[in-house]
Amino acid sequence: MKYNFDVVLHDSRLSRMKWEFELKKSADPDLLSFGTADMDFRSPQPILDAISAIADVGHLGYPYISDHYYSSIENWLHRATGWCVDVRSCAANNVGIYTAVWTILDAFTQLGDEVIIQTPAHFCFTSMVKDNDRSLVENPLREVNGRYEMDFEQLERSFSNKTKLFWLCNPHNPVGRAWTKEELMKLAKICLAHRVPILSDDVYCGLTYPGISYTPIASLSRDISQNTITCYSTSKSYNTTGVKYSFCITENPELLKKYNKSLQKLDLTYGFNIIGIAITEAAYEQCDDWLAELMGYVQSNMQKTEQFLKDEMPRVSISHADSTYFAWMDVSCFHLPADDLVEMLKREAHILVCSGAELGKGGEGHIRFNLACPASILEEGLKRFGQFYQKHLHI
Ligand SMILES: Cc1ncc(COP(=O)(O)O)c(C=O)c1O
Repeated sequence: MKYNFDVVLHDSRLSRMKWEFELKKSADPDLLSFGTADMDFRSPQPILDAISAIADVGHLGYPYISDHYYSSIENWLHRATGWCVDVRSCAANNVGIYTAVWTILDAFTQLGDEVIIQTPAHFCFTSMVKDNDRSLVENPLREVNGRYEMDFEQLERSFSNKTKLFWLCNPHNPVGRAWTKEELMKLAKICLAHRVPILSDDVYCGLTYPGISYTPIASLSRDISQNTITCYSTSKSYNTTGVKYSFCITENPELLKKYNKSLQKLDLTYGFNIIGIAITEAAYEQCDDWLAELMGYVQSNMQKTEQFLKDEMPRVSISHADSTYFAWMDVSCFHLPADDLVEMLKREAHILVCSGAELGKGGEGHIRFNLACPASILEEGLKRFGQFYQKHLHI
């Protein structure tokens, strides 16, 4: 192993939402956080070097986006997925992923229009649609033999003449599925038949387990690409969430024009994030080996967790994941609302996890446990969870 993911970061200057904020909020110095979708590892060195290089030059003015930036994305997409796309003419930068989603909602939908999502989904999927006075249509995923699948029959029934957008998450937070070509093809054909464009949030695309590949839905055919806008960021895969930088790609000039118009309303076509640009180049050009080792480590954490549950907590199960760093756990055996269970875990076991109750249909009875941490932290968290299980289920 070239990289050491066992290191527990200790630095009084750390200021993370997942840890320092939660520790302060709970006033519990023993709390272990498996909550916020961030990783506990140091960001890859080439990314840190890219930021240092900017500081060395000593100028933080509006950046010029060179060809190098576009070719770093093009080469990465081609290398990682086989998709050949002329990024120069098809991409637009943005702040975070959700700012991009907001501008897409603004560009492609109007007040009252329906947006389809597949639940359970990150809580912002629901809030982003509802808070912007669009109408949310949930097409819950189905769990089949411990693995989540899309429900195509139900999806067919979900469209109406007010449906203006399908919002895909690939790979999917929280269930950890990197959708296969076949699944994506089926989905894309249904959306095309209903003339509904696809917004694909691919923020977790680097986080596939060894041997699993990520497929951009737009790469499947020209027609599908013309019906899709895809959101990317280095944030989740390379531990850069705090930079808040993303970019979107669509090969459809009409969609791009509408999207750019929406960006203009917020002055987002002028001046870009100088750090976002530099780290995007570094991530896509110099971090393949780091990412591969990271996902080997996360997979090993998943295997440890599965084994622990099997041995010590057999009534809790994890759905089969092939991507992301989440363990999506069925905790219905506690017969408690997920929010209450999360509160009790925090108070009694001193572990913080995410409640599935906030994640839409299919989320109740589940928690999301973040595995992107050193194995020693995971082992301690699982030990505490196991003690809690024994106490409450009287085993
Ligand atoms: C699926 C998904 N998309 C987007 C985001 C947030 O992205 P950003 O912070 O860039 O807005 C998250 C955060 O957890 C997420 O889970």
